[in-house]
Amino acid sequence: MAEQAVIEEPEIVTITSYDEARMAYRQKDLRQALYDAGEVIMEDVLVNLHAEEHRARRRVENRLYRRETFFHYERSLFPPIIEETVDPYIAEGKAELVSLGHQLMMNLAAYTAGVDRPEGTPEETFRLYDYLGSFIEGATLAHYTGDKAAKEAEVSAALDKFGDEFLKPGIERRREALAKLAAGEITEDDLPKDVLTVLLRNEEELGISYEAIRREVSFYLLAGAHTSATAFTRVSHNILGWLADHPEDTDLVRTDRLFVQRATHETIRLQPSSPTAMRWALSDIDLTPGIQIPKGGKVVIDLISVNRDAAVFGDDAADFNPRREVPEGVPPYGLSFGSGMHACIGQDMAAGLVFRDGADLEDHLFGLVPGAVQYLFDHGAVADPDDPPEMDASTSRPYFGRYPVLFPKG
Ligand code: HEM
Repeated sequence: MAEQAVIEEPEIVTITSYDEARMAYRQKDLRQALYDAGEVIMEDVLVNLHAEEHRARRRVENRLYRRETFFHYERSLFPPIIEETVDPYIAEGKAELVSLGHQLMMNLAAYTAGVDRPEGTPEETFRLYDYLGSFIEGATLAHYTGDKAAKEAEVSAALDKFGDEFLKPGIERRREALAKLAAGEITEDDLPKDVLTVLLRNEEELGISYEAIRREVSFYLLAGAHTSATAFTRVSHNILGWLADHPEDTDLVRTDRLFVQRATHETIRLQPSSPTAMRWALSDIDLTPGIQIPKGGKVVIDLISVNRDAAVFGDDAADFNPRREVPEGVPPYGLSFGSGMHACIGQDMAAGLVFRDGADLEDHLFGLVPGAVQYLFDHGAVADPDDPPEMDASTSRPYFGRYPVLFPKG
């Protein structure tokens, strides 16, 4: 009799408490598991590397993602991009936040990833937007319900085209700049401050191929744009809801920039852009006296539960409260940016730093999402009473599909 192949299902350990999640994130023998089916984009990108390979890549990319770069982005690079993207809608008196958020965050993420747009036309932006859509599909193939092989081939073709159209000319421009730097014709400050430049500068140290650079830049584009765009709409929604219930705070939203930043942190805690983290156990792990993970087992960190852990965030942990006080050492956004080796490299850029009492507001980093939301409220954004928001029906995840707002004149 032919032997029946037995496919063993991995043991799944789900983590729902804040302290256990922190411990899991710190375990060196837990390896990334979230992108197993998304290799076409994610095969060897930072978030999918482990141990020494991850350390080497992160060390190089950390050279870019430093405080000075974030200040440069927040104070010099981002404000004109926010104005350019949002002002036409303000002039029109209305906007739809889901598409505006994606447009805006992609424009910002393109700069930080190193994707140049020499034409600067809306058509060029739309083409890039289409590529971004493909990359998101590629990274999340695990959730795709149609023909996976066909979708993978489509994403792979999009990567090739993106490489030829956007990346190769950008690589050439950066190689020329690096040659000029070597010849002493320009200084460090004249180099673009983006991931592509950092990778090319450290190409030999990393032993990285063109295809791997292409995946990494595409991953940065989607890691920066999609997460921040969903946060942008949700923060705006939560603030509008808060103001409806607390009209006394209406002025605060324009006069106190920390209020918008706190509302952002509170939103990201309650509605993490990536609601689960997943890891494979490379060895038997005793996480706590009560939690053993066998080698080959899978750990699922349920961030919605973790970030609403009443023992840490209080009995009203499930409510939105921008004035929430959290215990010393606990970030107000919970573990929504991860922790440990894969902790989000763009966290300070996206959400700024947590303001400490007595610190100087002049030296404070507010973050890209609070900055963009602030811009809406500075220009009087209100919900459109005749066109209520709708959820995105094409996914089981709680994304808004449409979010109309008005900018009343005068
Ligand atoms: C609201 C905005 C954002 C949220 C909620 C977020 C969330 C996260 C989370 C949860 C992780 C860890 C994944 C894991 O442990 O498996 C992560 C990693 C990462 N994020 Fe973000 N992110 C945001 C914005 C950004 C931005 C703007 C960038 C652009 C630079 C970025 C780049 C990355 C990268 C490169 C990693 C991988 C780090 C590593 O593996 O060492 N993220 N992010």
